[in-house]
Amino acid sequence: MNNIKVSIENISKFVSKEEVYSQEKIVKQAIAKLHDKTGAGHDFLGWLNLPSSVTEAEINDIEETVSKLKAEVDTVIVVGIGGSYLGAKSVTEALAHTFEQMKLSDEYPSIFFAGQNIGEDYMFELMEVLKERKYAVVVISKSGTTTEPAIAFRILKKDLEERFGKETAKNRIVAVTDKEKGALRILAEQEGYKTYVIPDDVGGRFSVLSPVGLLPIALAGYNIRELIKGAAEMEKATAKEVNFKDNPAAIYAATRFSLYKKGKTNEILVNYNPKLHYLAEWWKQLFGESEGKDGKGIFPASVDFSTDLHSMGQYIQDGIRNLFETVISVSKTKHKLSIPEDEQNLDKLNYIAGKNIDEVNKKAELGTTLAHVDGGVPNIRIELAEINEYNLGQIIYFFEKACGISGYLLEVNPFDQPGVEAYKRNMFALLEKPGFEKETAEINKRLK
Ligand code: PA5
Repeated sequence: MNNIKVSIENISKFVSKEEVYSQEKIVKQAIAKLHDKTGAGHDFLGWLNLPSSVTEAEINDIEETVSKLKAEVDTVIVVGIGGSYLGAKSVTEALAHTFEQMKLSDEYPSIFFAGQNIGEDYMFELMEVLKERKYAVVVISKSGTTTEPAIAFRILKKDLEERFGKETAKNRIVAVTDKEKGALRILAEQEGYKTYVIPDDVGGRFSVLSPVGLLPIALAGYNIRELIKGAAEMEKATAKEVNFKDNPAAIYAATRFSLYKKGKTNEILVNYNPKLHYLAEWWKQLFGESEGKDGKGIFPASVDFSTDLHSMGQYIQDGIRNLFETVISVSKTKHKLSIPEDEQNLDKLNYIAGKNIDEVNKKAELGTTLAHVDGGVPNIRIELAEINEYNLGQIIYFFEKACGISGYLLEVNPFDQPGVEAYKRNMFALLEKPGFEKETAEINKRLK
């Protein structure tokens, strides 16, 4: 069952439905390029069939690791950055109790993330907390040489080995990496870590439905079978043979492309449920890294409403008119809580007493949408029935598919990220990394 509904009623002041539907031919061509593997970056299309190709043996293997680790430790540190971080972070945050550490219950370990920044205080304070804990490390890096996770992993590995001994440490480290290449693969083989493979044809930002996301999500206690089931359903709903108008990813891609051509170059992903904050972070990487190249691409931004209506609301209502919004609206909350009656009514809230909080939230959503449309901001609405593993699987695959289509509509390679190297080159030059002597000399001259 498809639990995601895309509605484009609120773009009609800016782009007509006919204009969107007139993109059918090029969207179909883009979908065909993806499925026939004839477009740019066609070596990185493994994600297209990940949901339908995950095997029972692969899931069992992950579940065995979870059973083993949860019996031994109370905390797991997941080390990774970018595509090796945001997928697991977004799903665990969406499913977790807001005030717990991303775990389902006491039966499962707390999940903390590291290696997604170079914050000395972050790492120091993490090590401080870990003094009181029995922990394991899941280190995720396709290349195995990314600086941020490599620094965090070095510190964690040393601590584990010093505190618990090499043998125990070895059993508490799991590596998710390339099948044969890279520093992490070599280390894992040398030390005898349990390993999982990031498929060659799956790039970082498209890897959440591989062990990169599945292992941490399962460790937090969530149902990866349901996640995959939802994604597999969306794989079917967006397949090559599905009618353009019935394919939600095709409609979303066609709509944002039509808006882009009208000068709406910035897309804001909006949620009215703070549990989806990190889903937006994942989405920003997915679309930003895939589309933003060759001087092209929609700039992906995100806000949490109604929180950010009190900070960003003014700009969205009234600033430069190059924006459009895509709202993820969750139909059903997990819990019910109503607003109490108050005898004094000093805050004048009695008119909404007895209503559930979400009823007010939905009116905030509708009122904001109408105001923003009036202010010149087109609005795409994605309705998500509720937040659960199945529906998250659906929305993840939906965005991935729409992103692949969008890249081909823009005529860029959606599966590379050459621009990410520029900062690394400068950082290595400044740090005087061996092999970067020429760059070091050049940058020092520039900074004089
Ligand atoms: O999408 C990408 O390819 C990147 O975000 C990478 O996932 C990120 O840079 C981490 O790379 P690695 O997994 O090689 O450490």
